[in-house]
Amino acid sequence: MADKNISPKLPQKFLSDMETAIDAKAMITTHDDIAPYMVEQRGRFIGQTSLVVLPKTTQEVSDVVKLCAEYNIGIVPQGGHTGLVSGGIPFPGDNAIVLSTSRLNKIRAIDPANNTMIVEAGCILQTIQEHAAKHDRLFPLSLGAEGSCQIGGNIATNAGGINVIRYGNTRQLILGLEVVTPTGEIWDGLRALQKDNTGYDLKQLYIGSEGTLGIITAAVLQLFPKPKEQQTAILALRDLDTSLPLLNLAQAMLGDALTSFELLPWIGIDFAQKHGQGVIDPIEGQYDWYILMEASVAINHSNLKDHFDNYLETAFEKGWIKDGVLAQNKTQSDCFWLLRENITLCQKAEGGSIKHDISVPVSSVPAFIKMANEAVQKLIPGIRPHPFGHLGDGNIHYNLSQPINMNKQDYLDRWEEVNRVVHDIVHSFNGSISAEHGIGRVKRDENQHYKSPIEIQLMKSIKTTLDPKGIMNPGKLIPVS
Ligand code: MLT
Ligand code: ZN
Repeated sequence: MADKNISPKLPQKFLSDMETAIDAKAMITTHDDIAPYMVEQRGRFIGQTSLVVLPKTTQEVSDVVKLCAEYNIGIVPQGGHTGLVSGGIPFPGDNAIVLSTSRLNKIRAIDPANNTMIVEAGCILQTIQEHAAKHDRLFPLSLGAEGSCQIGGNIATNAGGINVIRYGNTRQLILGLEVVTPTGEIWDGLRALQKDNTGYDLKQLYIGSEGTLGIITAAVLQLFPKPKEQQTAILALRDLDTSLPLLNLAQAMLGDALTSFELLPWIGIDFAQKHGQGVIDPIEGQYDWYILMEASVAINHSNLKDHFDNYLETAFEKGWIKDGVLAQNKTQSDCFWLLRENITLCQKAEGGSIKHDISVPVSSVPAFIKMANEAVQKLIPGIRPHPFGHLGDGNIHYNLSQPINMNKQDYLDRWEEVNRVVHDIVHSFNGSISAEHGIGRVKRDENQHYKSPIEIQLMKSIKTTLDPKGIMNPGKLIPVS
């Protein structure tokens, strides 16, 4: 094993024991090979480690963890490496190894009659969706990174995405878990039950714990009947205030067929058209705000289209929408979603972007956006607010592009200051400073600022009880005390 890049902090004996525990080929130790595991999508931070291990079985994960526990070495679990809060990389000084779940990627079983599927943590979300579809089932978790994110990471961060309004967050889609605890024991909680009222719901503790309490190695997923008909539309709004009555009207006229209700600002559509590949705005003219919405039903020959047409007609009559296009086929609805995806991706091309992933009660979203826009304009004149996202569940990515002529670094240097102004407003609505991306390292201190002392104390006592040595994803989510 090449060891020129091994940090002196990792004892040689630990490394040779590791070679015994897992195949040496499943250990990455050279600087160049480690590098891709350290650079995140947003590139805000770069991690540092001298060892990445890629176990292939739950038993190997357990052996790795036992060894780390024995030597007091930290472990940072890493899935598809698509996280947005630096939860999956060790920071300099953490003295931690990375445990990648990429090779733990078997679909263990599917039980269509029970509407469940058992998958290992490293399975790619899209592979899971496709496997469920082959069995005429739906796994509804869906997000931009689905082609590369892994289900273990989705579960550890309680990912949200575009279908939460109908199916809930990842938390609502998991029936059971298999977890390797910080002592290396394997907890087999892979129960495929709808009802299990036998005490504390341990799986819910691990879901959203961001690898700080143990390593999720497999899960029982809840499946649903596969939609047979889908309708997708883009609407141009009269103004931001009509977004709420439009949502409520959709809920009244489409019921629980409504699966997505996404808010898009003109600036996002403009960026996407300028910088995205193959992006088309289906609506002529320019409006300040748009909604991308989708509804689906799992029965054949439904009258969903009639309901959708009636909905659009009513919205026009009320003057809440100025224009709207209903996708005529799958290609056109894919085009609408491509536009949505590029609204996320194309902010990069317009210089520095200060990010927020907030939620407030759905009924407060327009008021929040107006208040925050005013406050940030006052702080940095010329700043370009770019609020978009999951209006249907109150989760807005309140991102802020830099003023056109400002130096990028000067702008990004004000990240924390801007965060504080925006998050104070979120707090005044009793909202959350991380709706779906998690806390990781990026929002750890900001989270401490807003949580009550008792909430922090309860979280810390859970951490110390389950991980007394503090080896699981050290320094993430809550500070090492
Ligand atoms: C999205 O909804 O597009 C993502 O969660 C937003 C992001 O990457 O900031
Ligand atoms: Zn999102």
